[in-house]
Amino acid sequence: MSTHTSAAPSRQPHDLAPDDPARRSAGQEPTALPVADAAYWEAAAETFDDEPDHGLRDPAVRAAWATRLRTWLPAEPAEVLDLGCGTGSLALLAAEQGHRVLGVDRSPRMIERARAKLAGWDAAFLVGDAAEPPAGERRFDVVLVRHLLWALPDPAAALRRWAGLLVPGGRLVLVEGRWGESDPIGIPADELADLVGPLAAHTSVQDLAPDALLWGKEVHDERYALLADLPPRT
Ligand SMILES: C[S@@+](CC[C@H](N)C(=O)[O-])C[C@H]1O[C@@H](n2cnc3c(N)ncnc32)[C@H](O)[C@@H]1O
Repeated sequence: MSTHTSAAPSRQPHDLAPDDPARRSAGQEPTALPVADAAYWEAAAETFDDEPDHGLRDPAVRAAWATRLRTWLPAEPAEVLDLGCGTGSLALLAAEQGHRVLGVDRSPRMIERARAKLAGWDAAFLVGDAAEPPAGERRFDVVLVRHLLWALPDPAAALRRWAGLLVPGGRLVLVEGRWGESDPIGIPADELADLVGPLAAHTSVQDLAPDALLWGKEVHDERYALLADLPPRT
């Protein structure tokens, strides 16, 4: 494995189901790997924040993500749905910027940490499946998803579901990548743009790889944010 992959979602073999689309995105044939399950993320929760871009403990890394987030989220206080929220690091930045956050993660331990991290903020966290978020009738100005879509079994279906949770003119903020140099895994930006394009009035992609502060080190693989704005109300 490349030395440049550690800040990305950990590429343990059991992250990926044998038929995981991330394998196909990476040009790999489906293989007989152990099936991905929630237990992996449960086990990962304890040390998840040790990665610079996960825990955002380094003030410079934290500031780099806060700056990006400020440009991706509305200027006015907004409703933000953070799917696959992990320990809530981005949710906390969003709350600090005045937004009301609902975080969803299928790992109870991740949710436990997110709740502790955002105690006292206007935020709630639920254990649930990001592909079918337990959001009830709530609608959101932004659906924020970092480092999750690549691991879902049907990214196209998830994107359609998420678009349905947005208000007219709402925004999908998708932070994804293709981690690793010799054996990359993940969704290339152009492939994700093709999936999102039919749902959106406007999409744009920001290359995040050159910004070493986001990762706490130099990286040389593909990392990006795709912003997709839904059509406004007609
Ligand atoms: C790489 S971590 C990213 C966490 C967070 N978004 C971040 O950027 O710090 C992936 C997270 O997605 C969660 N996850 C994986 N599959 C999920 C699913 N189907 N529904 C909800 N959460 C899921 C895992 O439990 C884990 O917390």
